[in-house]
Amino acid sequence: MTNALTITDVRKTYKNGTEALKGVSFGVRGGEMLALLGANGAGKTTLIGILCGLVTKTGGSAEVFGVDIDAHPEQTRSMIGVVPQEFNFNIFERVGDIVIDAAGYYGIPRSVAAPRTETILKRLGLWDKRDAVGRTLSGGMKRRLLIARALVHEPKLLLLDEPSAGVDVELRRGMWEFVVDLNAHGTTIILTTHYLEEAERLCKRVVILKRGVVVQEGEIAELVRASGAKNLEDFYLRV
Ligand SMILES: Nc1ncnc2c1ncn2[C@@H]1O[C@H](COP(=O)(O)OP(=O)(O)OP(=O)(O)O)[C@@H](O)[C@H]1O
Ligand SMILES: [Mg+2]
Repeated sequence: MTNALTITDVRKTYKNGTEALKGVSFGVRGGEMLALLGANGAGKTTLIGILCGLVTKTGGSAEVFGVDIDAHPEQTRSMIGVVPQEFNFNIFERVGDIVIDAAGYYGIPRSVAAPRTETILKRLGLWDKRDAVGRTLSGGMKRRLLIARALVHEPKLLLLDEPSAGVDVELRRGMWEFVVDLNAHGTTIILTTHYLEEAERLCKRVVILKRGVVVQEGEIAELVRASGAKNLEDFYLRV
C-alpha cells in the first residue's frame, strides 16, 4: 500500500535564522495512527504547517498518498485535514457556517456540506451551538469546532496538532472515541500531543522530534520494552 505520507529530508529555517527542522525523514503508512511527539519548539507545528501549505519549507520533499506537495499542492491539500494548535476561525461567524464554508474552499457544494456538517457537529456535541458565533464558545468547544471544520471535506489524512488541549475529561473521551472511529474507517491520523498516556493508548507507532531532528521512531510497545522503560512517558523522558 502507498504510504499516506513520506517525508524526506525536510528542512525549515525561518527568516530570523531559527532552524526549526534540520532534515526530517519518516513515513506514515496508510490507515495508521501515529504519534508525533517532541518538546515545545521541537518543530511539530512547523512540519504540520509545511504539509498543509501554510509554511514554506526550505528543503526536502513530502508526498501525500504518493503525490508531491510541491508539484500538486491543491490535490494534496484536499487530502489533508488539519486541526491547528491555534484557533484560527472567524470568531464572528456562526459555528455551522464556519464548517460549511470550509467545505466551500474544497469546492464542495452547500447541498453536500450541510448534511455532513450536521452529522459531524452532532458527533462532536456541537449541534446545539450551530447558530452561536465562534466567539461565544468555550475553549474546549472551539477545539471541537476545529475538528469539525477539518473533517468536512472527508480528508484521508488528518493532522491533529494538540487536539485535546483544554478539552475536559468527559468530552475528551468522546472526542477520542470519534477519532478512533475515523481511524477504524480508514482515515490516517497524525497526532501531536503532550499527553503521553493518550498517545500511548491511541497510537501504535511514534516519531519523536528533538530540536528539529527525528531522535526516535518505531512501535511504541517495542521501544518501551527494548529500553526497559515503564511506559511511553518514561521512555520519552529518557530520550
Ligand atoms: N513564524 C516563525 N518565525 C520564527 N520562528 C518560528 C516561527 N514559528 C516557529 N518558530 C520556531 O521554530 C521552532 C519550532 O517551533 P514549532 O512551533 O514548530 O514547535 P512545536 O514542536 O510545535 O512546539 P509546541 O509543542 O510548543 O507546539 C521554535 O524554535 C519556534 O520558536
Ligand atoms: Mg506546536
